[in-house]
Amino acid sequence: MGISFFSPLGASEGRGGRQHSLAARILLHIFDKPSAERLLVKKSAQPSSEKADWMRSCLELADSPKDSCLPNPRVGALILHRNKVISKAFHAGPGKAHAEALAIQRARSKGFRKFSEASLYINLEPCCHLNKRTPPCLPLVLDCQFKEIFIAHPDPNPQVAGRSIRALRRSGAKVEVGLLKEEAEDLNQAFLKNQQEGMPLVRLKAAMSFDGRWACPNGESKWISGERSRALVHHWRAKSQFIGIGYESLKRDGSRLNARLGRRSKPKNILVFGGPKRLGKNLPVIKANGMDRVHQIPSGVDLRKSLQTLYKEKGVCEIFLEGGPRLATSFLEADLVDHWMIFYGRGLIGGSARYTIGADWALKSPQESIKFQPQRVELLGSDVFVEGKLHVYRSRTK
Ligand SMILES: NC(=O)c1ccc[n+]([C@@H]2O[C@H](COP(=O)([O-])OP(=O)(O)OC[C@H]3O[C@@H](n4cnc5c(N)ncnc54)[C@H](OP(=O)(O)O)[C@@H]3O)[C@@H](O)[C@H]2O)c1
Repeated sequence: MGISFFSPLGASEGRGGRQHSLAARILLHIFDKPSAERLLVKKSAQPSSEKADWMRSCLELADSPKDSCLPNPRVGALILHRNKVISKAFHAGPGKAHAEALAIQRARSKGFRKFSEASLYINLEPCCHLNKRTPPCLPLVLDCQFKEIFIAHPDPNPQVAGRSIRALRRSGAKVEVGLLKEEAEDLNQAFLKNQQEGMPLVRLKAAMSFDGRWACPNGESKWISGERSRALVHHWRAKSQFIGIGYESLKRDGSRLNARLGRRSKPKNILVFGGPKRLGKNLPVIKANGMDRVHQIPSGVDLRKSLQTLYKEKGVCEIFLEGGPRLATSFLEADLVDHWMIFYGRGLIGGSARYTIGADWALKSPQESIKFQPQRVELLGSDVFVEGKLHVYRSRTK
């Protein structure tokens, strides 16, 4: 387990009882409490009620598939009767049963019939549209006449968009929407971006030396980060729908880019940016994942248009972008990165800035920089892992 540096001033449970984080203690020593709070990176206020705890279990269920569920969202469902779990289920991906349908079916197969005294927890509004492989869940949920239904957030799919919530309310059910909304939206960031913008979500992963280098001046980058960080990368590869990589990195590192979790090694869908017209069949990435899983995007394309086409025509909903720095820079310049995952190794590399983000940028002041909003900071062995959203995009002067 990593250490969360930016615990809110509300303090965390430590060995010696309730403790403030080091940062919080220092700030409280210097400033009054309101000013210290302003200076700390605050997590959103997390409701800590029984209902929120049930919804949290629902989100954990939703997140249990080890592979991507896209183009479908991650959904978990819980049925409770007198505070006891009657059944639970999660959606395992396209073509598979929806979480609430499965939870209802499991409850029924146990002989449970008292749905009108039961509560349903689900992180996404039930579906009500027909043009898909699985039947809509709304009729099933209506038929159960649950006493109460908790939904983390509405489904932005224009074919649903609050229709199911309204239908459930019209039926007389007590429906509460918005419990742990922020956490639930984070879980389905890619699905939400797909529905709202018709684009894939891009997560940029980088392993950097403590001074921001992706590789030594000779291009060697094995290994800037430690074993724990690399294990987390494999976990994220497994969960992601597509992996993106620049040709130079592929050529230099001979990466396989499959997801190696314990003994299991799973092929992935790969997008290679740039490189020669035809990729050599002997590239490790092709051997490990198969020729038909590796797609190439020629250099010099308009990246934004190209991602829109990849979404519409090839169903690319999410890209876990593994670099290198030139490709990452292209994505940042086109304002296409949604989420950062940076592993800072403990070494200082120095030398030229060739293998850094924006090696050619010439900012005139820090105010012009691209900013990101850290959401999580953890120690992974001796690496520092920082994760967050891209916050503000500003064009830079070359
Ligand atoms: N530490 C890490 O996490 C990490 C991760 C990956 C790689 N690396 C290191 O990074 C180094 C390689 O990085 P690099 O910066 O030289 O190259 P790179 O980013 O791996 O690859 C650049 C490639 O991306 C293509 N490209 C860039 N913008 C594009 C666009 N808009 N559309 C399509 N293709 C585009 C380029 O094509 P054109 O040249 O044809 O424009 C080029 O082939 C290696 O030393 C590797 O070890 C480190």
